[in-house]
Order: sequence, then structure tokens, then C-alpha cells
Amino acid sequence: MAQDPSVTYGSYLAVDELLALQRPRSEGPEHDEMLFIVIHQVYELWFKQVLHEVDHVIALLDRRDAFRAQHSLKRILTILKVLVAQLDILETMTPLEFQSFRQRLEAASGFQSDQFRQLEFVLGNKSSAAIERFARDTRARTALQQRFASPTLWDAFLKYLASEGYAIPPQQLSRDVTARIEASPDVQETLIDVYRRDAKHAEMCERLVDLDEGLQEWRYRHVKMVQRTIGAKIGTGGSSGAQYLATTLMTPIFPDLWEIRAKL
Ligand code: HEM
Repeated sequence: MAQDPSVTYGSYLAVDELLALQRPRSEGPEHDEMLFIVIHQVYELWFKQVLHEVDHVIALLDRRDAFRAQHSLKRILTILKVLVAQLDILETMTPLEFQSFRQRLEAASGFQSDQFRQLEFVLGNKSSAAIERFARDTRARTALQQRFASPTLWDAFLKYLASEGYAIPPQQLSRDVTARIEASPDVQETLIDVYRRDAKHAEMCERLVDLDEGLQEWRYRHVKMVQRTIGAKIGTGGSSGAQYLATTLMTPIFPDLWEIRAKL
């Protein structure tokens, strides 16, 4: 096949467009605003990739391809580690450095990251109220509505276990997928069975626990960063700030996988 000479590193990756996307709002502009913008944009790109991979895991589980599903889960976990580690970079910004441009953010806040909410939705933390924060007929709202109405990773996993012959209650398999994932004693019984008798699927459960713990770790590190940067100030998104964020900690994504630990 003849090669297209017009394809270059820059054109393939749209480098010119990418480098034009960092647009500080402060006068000067303030030195630290660039880091703040770049790091958030990098997060959004990783969120995009994680969503892409989670969708792939769901499709692989639907096809009963556990081996590849586990492979993709491992990739997601590796990205999650990078997401947590990246907070170290932002923590090199002192409270005064942040203050130098914070006002220019106006009401903009991570609160409004639709991809973060999409991730919460696909992992089972659904909330119709969260959709309402996004303007009608926007890409963000349409994407969130689609995620809201779609089965979660946990639904795909339970369906997969059922296809492998495990006793998953029918009401779990036909549950309202727009509802939050709730703990189920029946599912827990089955999971205990998996852990005791089936090393392959127990291993997959452990990867889901890694994912759950990884996201909780990100939340914890984010709150600590917020505390050291703005203390008890309210958030630009209008919440009570670190106080609100603390309420989102320690809430598991897959409650059944945590409940069973005391019974194993
Ligand atoms: C100096 C750095 C940062 C500060 C001071 C900060 C502060 C806050 C605050 C106060 C909130 C609560 C909502 C509000 O009232 O605004 C929040 C939420 C959030 N932030 Fe940050 N943030 C920072 C960096 C980041 C970064 C790098 C990300 C990466 C995407 C991020 C993602 C989020 C997300 C997703 C939420 C919503 C969390 C939830 O509702 O569970 N933040 N942030």
C-alpha cells in the first residue's frame, strides 16, 4: 500500500490543535495556571481512555471472553495508578500560587466533569440529579443520559457469572439499571462460593476490588489536596468544598465484594 506523505507525527496526533487548547484566563497570565489547565486536560484524556476500556470490558464479558476482559481490567488499573500519582504534581502548587488565578475559574469545577460522572455511572453510582447539572442538548448531557440508561460493569459481571452457571437471582439480572448498585445477600452467597471454589473467577473479583479501592484512593488523595490548597473554603462549584468531598469517601462501588470479606 502506498504511504500517504502528508501523514506526520503532528498531523496524526493533531499536535497544533492540541497545543492551542491551553488558554489561561489570568492576567499575565499567572505562571501556575498552565499547570492547572494541563493537568485537568490530561485527566479528561485519561477519563476518555478509561471509559473506552470499561466499555470494552463490558462487551468482552457479554461475549464471555473472561481472559481478555481481565487483561483490559489490568490496563484500567494501571491508568488509575497514574491518575492517583498525578495529584503529586498538582500538590507542588502552593495555596498562594492557586489563589493567584482561582477567581478566574468563576464557577468552573471538577464537579462539572461529565466524564467523571460517566465513569461513576458505568461503575454503578447512578444519579439522575447529576444529569440535571448539565445543559440540555450538549454532548455532555447526551453522553450521561446514555450511560444512565445502560447496564453497568457490575451488571455485565453478574450476567457473565450466571452464564458460567452461578446462581445469580433473576431480579438482579433484570434489575432497573438506572438504580444505584445495592448490596445483595444472595449475590454475596454466590461470591463466597466463587472465592472458595473457583480461583479464576475469584481473581476477576479481586481486580474489581482493585478498581473500587483505586477510585476510593483517588478520592482520598483529591480531598487531601483540596484541604492543603484551599483549607475549609467553599468550592468554585458551590459545594462546601473539602467537607462535601469527605462525604464521598469510603463508599464502595461494588458493596457485595466488600461485604463478603468478613465471611470468608
Ligand atoms: C488545586 C486543585 C484542585 C482543587 C482546589 C479542587 C477542588 C475541588 C472542590 C472544592 C470540589 C468540590 C466541588 C466544588 O464545590 O467545586 C472538587 C470536586 C471535584 N474535582 Fe477537584 N480540585 C482540584 C483539582 C482537581 C483535579 C486535577 C481533578 C481531575 C479531574 C479534579 C476533579 C474533581 C472532580 C471529578 C470533582 C467532583 C467529585 C465528586 O463530586 O465526587 N479536581 N474539586
